[in-house]
Amino acid sequence: MSITDKFGRPLQDLRISVTDRCNFRCTYCMPKEIFGKDYPFLPKSHLLTFEEIERLAKSFVKLGVKKIRLTGGEPLLRRDLPYLIAKLSSIEGLKDIGLTTNAALLEKMAESLKDAGLKRINVSLDALDNELFQSINDSGVSTERVIKGIEKALQVGLEVKVNMVVKKGMNDHEIIRMAEYFKNKGVTLRYIEFMDVGKTNGWDFSKVVTKKEIYEKLTNHFDLEPVDPAYVGEVAKRYRYVGTNVEVGFITSVSESFCSTCTRARIAADGKLYTCLFAGNGYDFRELLRSGATDEEIKQQITMIWDKRTDRYSDERTEESARDKDRIEMSYIGG
Ligand code: GTP
Ligand code: 5AD
Ligand code: SF4
Ligand code: SF4
Repeated sequence: MSITDKFGRPLQDLRISVTDRCNFRCTYCMPKEIFGKDYPFLPKSHLLTFEEIERLAKSFVKLGVKKIRLTGGEPLLRRDLPYLIAKLSSIEGLKDIGLTTNAALLEKMAESLKDAGLKRINVSLDALDNELFQSINDSGVSTERVIKGIEKALQVGLEVKVNMVVKKGMNDHEIIRMAEYFKNKGVTLRYIEFMDVGKTNGWDFSKVVTKKEIYEKLTNHFDLEPVDPAYVGEVAKRYRYVGTNVEVGFITSVSESFCSTCTRARIAADGKLYTCLFAGNGYDFRELLRSGATDEEIKQQITMIWDKRTDRYSDERTEESARDKDRIEMSYIGG
């Protein structure tokens, strides 16, 4: 079964945030001045339990979802996460489970994640220079620790991709160094354009380094050839280093939006469903689950919401909309 929204886009991917907390304080995502000791993170009772997540996931899969990605905050902070992955892995009809992490705890956890059934992992790493990386993550975690996490994940057989958010004046001078390093390792690196998510990250168009600029830098050093999308709605534009099977990609939410093929729904850690990364309002599924709704009622609710979906924020982005304050935080919705 598959359901489509107002623009004919099927519901195919589900991103589930398992916690709004993070052990990093990346300056472009959770600046310390705002996400300090007094920040009102969700209390435990407001988080969906693993059983609730599993139940929701099953309903989504019945409605056509093929791929689930677990996010945070930092998902590895959620206690017993491999147990959730094992539950999700056994859902019939689900083709793919991924996880997006900052990898601070990955070395320790890679093996149990793999054993639980995880196949793919996306690691955020914005610089190789340790001093720079620590000034970005503002939490003292070294590049070495992240690299060790990546090595361990590769060693246990997880497929790994690396995400680098590029922000002008922050880390754009590391673009080539990162490419060289991960090309040699045979790991796909994806450059992400800095996005205007949330209301605390000081976004401004002048701080975006576009795909075009990055691509030009790269092609001064490497020969690249385009790779066809693996499926309709793939987020990254992919290229291959000529003569190798190593890929590099771009996530161009700002300069080349991909809303027309957006098949993603997102569930925040408190059980709210959002139909766009830039949404202001979500739909409360925790309340629905806890009030004794049947599986059929849950599916009906999802179908009703998806049926009236018209989101295309990146297509419509303007300087003005980017300044609008009514938006959820990246760390809460999980990217
Ligand atoms: P793969 O399954 O490996 O392709 O994962 P992914 O690229 O979908 O997930 P990941 O968590 O690695 O996200 C990479 C970047 O893409 C993050 O900055 C996300 O916020 C961004 N992203 C993912 N989906 C969307 C989307 O629907 N809209 C926008 N604007 N950005 C997205
Ligand atoms: N713009 C682009 N990407 C971002 N991420 C976090 N904040 C932003 C932003 N403002 C990235 C993280 C992670 C992914 C889920 O989203 O670094 O790789
Ligand atoms: Fe950094 Fe990701 Fe944590 Fe945000 S959620 S502070 S981007 S590690
Ligand atoms: Fe999808 Fe919203 Fe991103 Fe567009 S901006 S691709 S609709 S999540």
